[in-house]
Amino acid sequence: MSVAALPVRLARFDDLEDSGSRGFDPGGQGRDTLLLVRRGDEVFAYLDACPHYGGTPMAWRKDAYLNGDGTRIVCHAHGAQFDIATGECLAGPCIGQRLTRLDAAVTEDGNVCIFMSPDSAPTCDEAGDEKVRR
Ligand code: FES
Repeated sequence: MSVAALPVRLARFDDLEDSGSRGFDPGGQGRDTLLLVRRGDEVFAYLDACPHYGGTPMAWRKDAYLNGDGTRIVCHAHGAQFDIATGECLAGPCIGQRLTRLDAAVTEDGNVCIFMSPDSAPTCDEAGDEKVRR
């Protein structure tokens, strides 16, 4: 039997810097386990786990997931560079592998939500199906 994923609110869309990234710890593990990247009106969500080596966390400091010009996600362990829209590694030691993408949505009232298993984190009260835009 499968269990439906629940929406989990991470942030207000307007609080995310355009062309910026931010890490989150929705499961309360004591470290950021996923990241959001905003590009204009879009937001992309990935696990903070590099496919090169054992799911290594990628930021070199809090929220530092992008390269200098903000065009790629970077793992600072060995320099892998990932396409923001697809999560595919385009340069570095794991070319062709991908970050694990999460299903993200922005509600009509401006909350960014991801969808997680029910035991992971508080739900996003504002994210009923009819309110979610993609
Ligand atoms: S662990 Fe990310 S590039 Fe090596």
